[in-house]
Amino acid sequence: MKAIILAGGAGTRMKSHLPKCLHKVLGQSMVDTVISTVKNAGVEKTIVVTGHEGQMLRDSIKEPVVFAEQKELLGTGHAVMMAIEHISADDTVLVIYGDTPLVTFQAIARLAEQHQKDGNAVTVLSTIVDNAFGYGRIIYKKGRFAKIIEQKDLLPDQMEIKEINTGIYIFSGRALIDALPLIKSQNAAKEYYLTDATEIILSNGLKAGVYCSGDPEQFMGVNTRVQLAQATEALKRRRNEEFMLSGVTMIDPLSVWIGHEVSIGVDTLLYPGVILEGKTVIGAGCVIGPDTRIADSVLEDEAEASNSVIMDSFIGSGAKIGPFAYIRPHSKIGRNCKVGDFVEVKNSTIGDNTKASHLTYIGDSDVGENVNFGCGTVTVNYDGKKKHRTVIKDNVFIGCNSNLVAPVTLEEGAYTAAGSTITMPVPENALAIARARQINKEGWNKSE
Ligand code: UD1
Ligand code: CA
Repeated sequence: MKAIILAGGAGTRMKSHLPKCLHKVLGQSMVDTVISTVKNAGVEKTIVVTGHEGQMLRDSIKEPVVFAEQKELLGTGHAVMMAIEHISADDTVLVIYGDTPLVTFQAIARLAEQHQKDGNAVTVLSTIVDNAFGYGRIIYKKGRFAKIIEQKDLLPDQMEIKEINTGIYIFSGRALIDALPLIKSQNAAKEYYLTDATEIILSNGLKAGVYCSGDPEQFMGVNTRVQLAQATEALKRRRNEEFMLSGVTMIDPLSVWIGHEVSIGVDTLLYPGVILEGKTVIGAGCVIGPDTRIADSVLEDEAEASNSVIMDSFIGSGAKIGPFAYIRPHSKIGRNCKVGDFVEVKNSTIGDNTKASHLTYIGDSDVGENVNFGCGTVTVNYDGKKKHRTVIKDNVFIGCNSNLVAPVTLEEGAYTAAGSTITMPVPENALAIARARQINKEGWNKSE
């Protein structure tokens, strides 16, 4: 089976500079979502028709697809014509629109089965909805499928029809190749409607049928940002249910947002306000949230993160992040570490069992195991021109309010006195004191 995905439309109703099919549902563009769905349905070759801001669309699609360009946007029938050179007569062709992101591969597989079984030249996927406004309607004559009429072309007595065209069809290559040149633009929109191909195929003496799905939600077309939000909501519900059924607890699934490439282990607990993005892998028995954003990161089993942001980093098992921590890209936090409130870590490696409990900045640092950061430690990594690294070996104890001016190394077991500004290496097991000695001026307050 080959697929033609139509993504050329301007999407006027979105009121956007971005082509409509690049708008995202749960972090993935609508067109990428449809591409991966048709792939899962067993499609071997996908042709994407681009038009409005076509270059932007072509640049954003990373999957191996073939592009066909529609220079003038003259309707869905015209769009398919732009892709027809990639279709041969003995192909089976799935046509689907890039603005229906909720479609499941199972629905496509069932449509393909029905198409095969009935020996049709075209089978249209329909569904029944409460509010059919805006959709093409399925018209039967004497109980047999006759044609599809678009909203703008409906007669008054056809307005009530609730069976709609989902915009998903399977054609035999031959029937499609023959029907396309016969489509005319004599309609309310002055467009070449793909939907007219069905009537043409019937008048060519071939079989056209309808497969009606009982699950209307998945065929929702996105034409406005309101519908984009509705589609996102529906996809979020579906995905969260899958996670819950596979062993993840969500206290408030409505407020949990999980991207399509994320995986989560069993018995992990998600509090409200959790956002998991990109290629994030969460282990088993983790506790995440409330209000925590994690992107492109790995959390090993039993790690915890609350009220925190973690970007492109690795968190070892049993580590506790937050509340109110910020883990910036390229950080690796070891097992059973604690990174507490108002601690920022950037581009640093931290060994197992190390603790930075409060108010600390660790940037461009290599930190060993079992290190203790006193409250208010700052690695001074930037001299105004260049970034430098701080090296802190195992079992180091850093007193509160220490500045570690990089490049600098604190050897194993070293101590720094509270309030020190460390600019020279500290040897193994030494105590570095780098601050003014205290002097007391007796009676200073009461003197004349
Ligand atoms: C279309 C169907 C309608 C169906 C509905 C389902 C037609 C004529 N109508 O209506 O029967 O109920 O989808 O959601 O097919 N596109 C192009 N080039 C064009 C025009 C559109 O590539 O010249 C693409 C758009 O980017 C979009 C898709 O085709 O992804 C559908 O176009 P749209 O204008 O949204 O059609 P609808 O009015 O929703
Ligand atoms: Ca549409």
